[in-house]
Amino acid sequence: MKKDLISIKDLSSAQIENIFSLTGQLKKNRLKFNKVLSGKTIALIFQKPSNRTRVSFQVGMYQLGGNSIYLSPSEINLGVRESISDVAKTLSRYVDGIVLRTFEHKTVVDMANAASIPVINGLSDFSHPCQALADVYTVKEKLKKLKGKTLVYVGDGNNVCNSLLFACAKAGLNMNVGAPKGYQPDKKVLEESIKLAQASKASIKLFDNAIDAAEGSDVLYTDVWASMGQEKETEARKKIFKEFQLNAKLLKSANKGCLIMHCLPAHRGEEITAEVIDSKNSVVFDQAENRMHVQKAVLIKLLGDK
Ligand code: CP
Ligand code: NVA
Repeated sequence: MKKDLISIKDLSSAQIENIFSLTGQLKKNRLKFNKVLSGKTIALIFQKPSNRTRVSFQVGMYQLGGNSIYLSPSEINLGVRESISDVAKTLSRYVDGIVLRTFEHKTVVDMANAASIPVINGLSDFSHPCQALADVYTVKEKLKKLKGKTLVYVGDGNNVCNSLLFACAKAGLNMNVGAPKGYQPDKKVLEESIKLAQASKASIKLFDNAIDAAEGSDVLYTDVWASMGQEKETEARKKIFKEFQLNAKLLKSANKGCLIMHCLPAHRGEEITAEVIDSKNSVVFDQAENRMHVQKAVLIKLLGDK
């Protein structure tokens, strides 16, 4: 049966461990893997802009000996020019995998159901699993272990936050979320991740202010206040999230040497200050780099010959 990467929730803790272990090998010995996906092609269907996701998938696929095709919003015009199902079935006859970046999460699910090839969620309004895998891998790489460490996410309880909740819960990393009421992570995701965290002996906690959430953090993480598709809310959100900025004052509540993370793109002076994102403890570009290594591991697991 073909496998997809739609949500971190679908991965077991052991599968995440396996992806991380392969990621480590890929980072250490890139050339050893330079033919593993030779003759294979992925299609990238992107209905939103991207720097990291697009480039890391295209370069990653190339480094594995494979090929990739980028399809911009105007080319496929998903659901307008052609139904999701017809796109999925057609591409299944040409390529070996699909990376989809879209708005409604249901679009990713529908694509995966109709395709006979693996579908990878390259970001939906609900989740961003490739990002969360790279993030937890980066934390492990930097702190050497996850158990007993705490990642604190402050700001909007969005797609990135939802996926981080599942990833931390599965990998055994404690996570606090500090988000204003009305902008907290998906209730179901929160409940499910709290349950999942019990198995990995991690804790998941929700706060409605940033200072309390940041107490004892080993990692402070934030993301934009207005995600792609929410541009009209930008000004209103600046007011709502004002007290949730990742700045020097918030850093005072964190543990010494606390890592600074952001999935990027970042808006300096809004969700994070330049002083903090450009500080020596910021690992944002390691995160960005690890997107490629982790995704190469995912591509091998989903598309590679068994
Ligand atoms: N973090 C991330 O997914 O970046 P892009 O939107 O540039 O792909
Ligand atoms: N929450 C952001 C993440 C970008 C990588 C967005 O969806 O725009």
